[in-house]
This record gives sequence, structure tokens and C-alpha cells, in this order.
Amino acid sequence: MTLLDAAKSFLNGKIKDDDILVDFTMGNGHDTAYLCSLVPNGKVYAFDIQKEALCNTTELLKDKCYNNAELILDSHANIAKYVDHFKCGMLNLGYRPGGDKTVTTLTESTLKAVTDGIELMEKGGVLVISVYPGHAEGANEGRALYELLSTYDKVYYSVVQYRMINSPDSPFIFAVEKYDK
Ligand SMILES: C[S@@+](CC[C@H](N)C(=O)[O-])C[C@H]1O[C@@H](n2cnc3c(N)ncnc32)[C@H](O)[C@@H]1O
Repeated sequence: MTLLDAAKSFLNGKIKDDDILVDFTMGNGHDTAYLCSLVPNGKVYAFDIQKEALCNTTELLKDKCYNNAELILDSHANIAKYVDHFKCGMLNLGYRPGGDKTVTTLTESTLKAVTDGIELMEKGGVLVISVYPGHAEGANEGRALYELLSTYDKVYYSVVQYRMINSPDSPFIFAVEKYDK
């Protein structure tokens, strides 16, 4: 199973066709398009700080005839300015494939996005975070997220780490579920 397949599998059975979803890092738009396909009667909010990401995602969504996304040129750290609540989200960290590798997600804004995102997530929702520890900032994000997510109360949340233990530098996932109670 690829990392992307694994990330998507954490969303299985959690989403209704009229839900609100969030792509925290639209990049080239593949995750945004996937989320759009899950909520034909709902809406996807997608964030990125690069104009190229918005352009590429706009093109991809047009090609696939999806018109249920709002693309936002701003940091995911500001999610609370744009989104009141959402059911599930994907946060694919790192840099845009084929783009400028120096424009990568950063630990401080990632932690703010995750903290605020979990606050805004509805009960029964899941936030899936893909981490790339093969570069220094990615390794730092992974450690900081582990520290943060370990503190969430097990009565209200399940936090799963999905990782190849025989390849510690390979990408891995945190999946945060807010229990429906
Ligand atoms: C690995 S790519 C995302 C891939 C994307 N989900 C896809 O399906 O193509 C990471 C993206 O995060 C974006 N990014 C970096 N910092 C950000 C921030 N603070 N807020 C939102 N996006 C950010 C980068 O510009 C880059 O496009």
C-alpha cells in the first residue's frame, strides 16, 4: 500500500456526500480533487501559500469538472479565518512536487494549523497528516507533531501513527480521530 492509499484509508466510512472537507496543502491539487470527489453535495476548502499551487489546482479541478472547492491563497495556520467547522482533512506536509523545494511547510505554522484544525473538526471527523522525515524540517515537524498529538485526551481522540519501523526515514502518517461522543 502506498502512503497515499494509507492516508485515504483513514477517511473510509467517515465522510457523507454533503460534508465540508479541508485540504491544508493543495500543492498540485491531487488531494483537493480527491476530496472534491467525496463530497459532490458538499464543499472543500483548500489552502496553499504559492500562486502556482492555486493555478495548478484550478486547472486540475476544471479538467475533472469539480466546482465544489474554494481555493485560498493563505497559510493553513489561518484556517480559523475562513472555516467555521469541517468533517475531515488532509495535511500533506513538505514541498510541492515539481516545485521550489525551499518552499516547504514549517514546524511553527504546521503546529498552529493542526491545533486550530482539530479544534474546528466535527465529532466523528479525522485529520490525516502525512510527514516526510527525509529532510531536516520534515523530521522536525514529525517530532513536534508527536509531542503535540501525544497530549490529546484518549477519552475524546484516537491518535494513530502509521509508520514503517524498518525504514525510519520513510514518510509516515498521523491520523487524529475526534470521537463521536
Ligand atoms: C507536499 S505539497 C502538497 C501536495 C498536494 N496535497 C497534492 O495533492 O498535490 C505541500 C504544499 O504545502 C504548501 N505549503 C507550505 N507551507 C504552507 C502553509 N503555511 N500553508 C499552506 N500551504 C503551505 C507548499 O506550497 C506545497 O504546495
